[in-house]
Amino acid sequence: MKTYSNILICPVCNHKLNKRDHQYICENKHSFDVSKEGYTNLLLKSSKHSGDCKSMVEARRAFLECNHYKPLQDALIELLKEKQPQIIVDAGCGEGYYTNTIAEHLNSELYAFDMSKNALRYAAKRTNIVHYFLASIFQLPIHDHSVDVILNIFAPSATNEFKRILKKEGILIKVDPGSDHLWELKDLLYEKAYKNEEKQLNEFTVLDTKEIKYTLSLTNKELLNLYEMTPYSFKTAKSAKENLIMVNNFDVTIHFILYTYQG
Ligand SMILES: C[S@@+](CC[C@H](N)C(=O)[O-])C[C@H]1O[C@@H](n2cnc3c(N)ncnc32)[C@H](O)[C@@H]1O
Ligand SMILES: [Zn+2]
Repeated sequence: MKTYSNILICPVCNHKLNKRDHQYICENKHSFDVSKEGYTNLLLKSSKHSGDCKSMVEARRAFLECNHYKPLQDALIELLKEKQPQIIVDAGCGEGYYTNTIAEHLNSELYAFDMSKNALRYAAKRTNIVHYFLASIFQLPIHDHSVDVILNIFAPSATNEFKRILKKEGILIKVDPGSDHLWELKDLLYEKAYKNEEKQLNEFTVLDTKEIKYTLSLTNKELLNLYEMTPYSFKTAKSAKENLIMVNNFDVTIHFILYTYQG
């Protein structure tokens, strides 16, 4: 069973949220039910930004289930095992590919947040050892200075919120695409492709940087899933996708950068 250390606050009145069976409740009796899939909606009203859509989530899930990004999952587990944090927050957890496995390998309490109900449904259904919440990472319902590690993997960075919730010695582990990430895919889609810009956060101090780089050989189905899970699927012209239809055994560079930051 997952432990709950009362780090959450009520999104209505900011008082402590207690956990009772299948419900989170504050002293003013604002209550939030855990859904049948196992996540809890702490968003007060539906936002214009509802996170990733169903097709994107499904494509990412199918791609990640082939373990193409397992080297990143392994590196995160290794890094976290060194730190032995008590409380981890995954900010922008998606469908929990990293979150659920990290929870299985560590004794930490994991609290994971995303704006996409589609993603959270998948994430929460597959585990009962992670606390999953529908909430914006720009307004996290978490006490000040209560978190040891924030994970922020290919998701937007809410630097002010991250600083507010981190303990004094807490760290932020942020994963960004490196300059060469998916270069061959971009080269196929765009007339003139550009490398990704590698940019550190100014608001934090970098403690450590780790690069992971390798080549994947993808079947056509895997390539199409990769395309659908990236922003290229809505940024490129329809005709660009046609360039992918006949391609098989496609070699693509995977390039991640893991930054460890302190506030
Ligand atoms: C590229 S996905 C990465 C998901 C996951 N970390 C992974 O690597 O598999 C980015 C995620 O950030 C979520 N997201 C975007 N804006 C958000 C916000 N303001 N609050 C919470 N989640 C957000 C999206 O719904 C999506 O699940
Ligand atoms: Zn309340």
